[in-house]
Amino acid sequence: MKKRVAVIGAGPSGLAQLRAFQSAAAKGAEIPEVVCFEKQENWGGLWNYTWRTGLDEFGEPVHGSMYRYLWSNGPKEGLEFADYSFEEHFGKQIGSYPPRAVLFDYIEGRVKKAGVRDWIRFCTTVRFVRYNEQTGQFTVTAHDLKADRMYDEVFDHVIVASGHFSTPNVPEFPGFATFGGRVLHAHDFRDAMEFKGKDILIVGTSYSAEDIGSQCWKYGAKSITVAHRTAPMGYDWPSNWQEVPILERVDETTAYFKDGTQAKVDAIILCTGYKHHFPFLPDDLRLKTRNRLAAADLYKGVVWVKNPKLFYIGMQDQWFTFNMFDAQGWWVRDAIMGRITIPDEAARAKDVVDRVAAEDAGKDAHDAIHYQGDYVKELIAETDYPPFDVDGACEAFFAWKEHKAKDIMTFRDNAYASVMTGTMAPLHHTPWKDALEDSMDSYLRN
Ligand SMILES: Cc1cc2nc3c(=O)[nH]c(=O)nc-3n(C[C@H](O)[C@H](O)[C@H](O)COP(=O)(O)OP(=O)(O)OC[C@H]3O[C@@H](n4cnc5c(N)ncnc54)[C@H](O)[C@@H]3O)c2cc1C
Ligand SMILES: NC(=O)c1ccc[n+]([C@@H]2O[C@H](COP(=O)([O-])OP(=O)(O)OC[C@H]3O[C@@H](n4cnc5c(N)ncnc54)[C@H](OP(=O)(O)O)[C@@H]3O)[C@@H](O)[C@H]2O)c1
Repeated sequence: MKKRVAVIGAGPSGLAQLRAFQSAAAKGAEIPEVVCFEKQENWGGLWNYTWRTGLDEFGEPVHGSMYRYLWSNGPKEGLEFADYSFEEHFGKQIGSYPPRAVLFDYIEGRVKKAGVRDWIRFCTTVRFVRYNEQTGQFTVTAHDLKADRMYDEVFDHVIVASGHFSTPNVPEFPGFATFGGRVLHAHDFRDAMEFKGKDILIVGTSYSAEDIGSQCWKYGAKSITVAHRTAPMGYDWPSNWQEVPILERVDETTAYFKDGTQAKVDAIILCTGYKHHFPFLPDDLRLKTRNRLAAADLYKGVVWVKNPKLFYIGMQDQWFTFNMFDAQGWWVRDAIMGRITIPDEAARAKDVVDRVAAEDAGKDAHDAIHYQGDYVKELIAETDYPPFDVDGACEAFFAWKEHKAKDIMTFRDNAYASVMTGTMAPLHHTPWKDALEDSMDSYLRN
């Protein structure tokens, strides 16, 4: 009997896993039967854009957190697949900060070529996973949303690739219930045009805050106020932008901050991050971790310490994304296929302690980028994933950070060289701040 493997989610992480198995099969290996469950009707995960917010057409929580005019926030040279370059996909080199639709096309191109779509059951939510100690197998309860039918299937391994930027962390501040404008989380933000001419307040200082504020500025918001809990972002912002200490309360029209200042605002966008949320997993299988580079309880960042038949992909905070998910997918494939030996529980637990300590020893973002780059190198070295210049990708991240520090509204007007093909990216034809039309056709017209 062939082993059976369940993959939960067909976003970049789940698709990396499918491509890993397919690439082994293409080289002649006997692979397990792989079944991927995806609750949306298409693949791509967060990159599968939806206008919907709240609940979807089946009453499921909408997974999408991406918004209409989102462009890559880091250089594409840091995320490129080592087995499928941008040049292979587009037939030419493209700019370094592609809009969402361009990256979706790239993600899709590789898995179309691999021919793994048949492995995926779309519109199928995993409702629950149980482990049976007697049989050493998992029972997965899935819900076919279109047929409205629930069923159980048994698997030897489960790989959780359901993402962790979809369940919003939503703090409440005094006065929200009586505020006269809209209060929303970044998860529900879609179109910056909604805030044209408005005074907006953003809470939080990480990527969502920076980018949603920048979007609103680009598409004509009247003013942007950003409230920080720990520290301001500190960029040299445009003149209608201010950073203030944390929000203390709001009344019907006005926000009041910790330093005694106040601002009249029309809308409040909570860019306060996301929660790792796995409602389909019981206590003994459920990952509980902060959003950090050394995630809790995962040997090698992927193996559930307490049960090595269960794996998680993509659960770390992310500098590296697509090619890190590949490194993980290839490694998990080889562990399942017996090419890599997983040590006993004590050794697995110690590995996590060591990883946490190594991350904590880092001083700054520079160290964090190297830390994650080294992790990618470590996994790749143990598999046949095509080796690539990970340090070169780190260099692209360092250059990106410098460009942001220089001018936060022009950093996307830079270009970097691919570490996969060595080709320099072209400079985009229009500065990011003026490129209001950002369709794939328009972006590729270089
Ligand atoms: C607003 C935003 C912008 C981002 N921008 C960038 C960027 O510019 N560059 C970059 O590299 N990264 C970016 N990221 C990071 C992003 O996390 C990764 O690029 C990538 O999407 C992660 O892939 P994933 O497969 O792990 O998770 P996801 O993309 O979240 O995919 C998970 C999949 O699992 C499915 N799923 C979830 N639960 C179930 C269930 N119970 N049953 C069945 N299916 C389920 C979902 O429908 C989804 O398709 C961004 C993230 C956010 C939130
Ligand atoms: N392509 C793009 O441009 C783009 C755009 C948006 C997001 N993303 C991606 O999306 C992911 C998530 O980013 P994120 O910014 O949403 O989350 P995040 O990085 O986890 O940051 C969360 C922010 O919320 C703040 N916060 C949390 N709870 C708070 C509270 N109770 N009160 C005040 N502030 C609070 C945190 O402040 P402290 O610092 O005080 O903890 C932090 O600034 C990242 O991987 C990012 O790359 C990409």
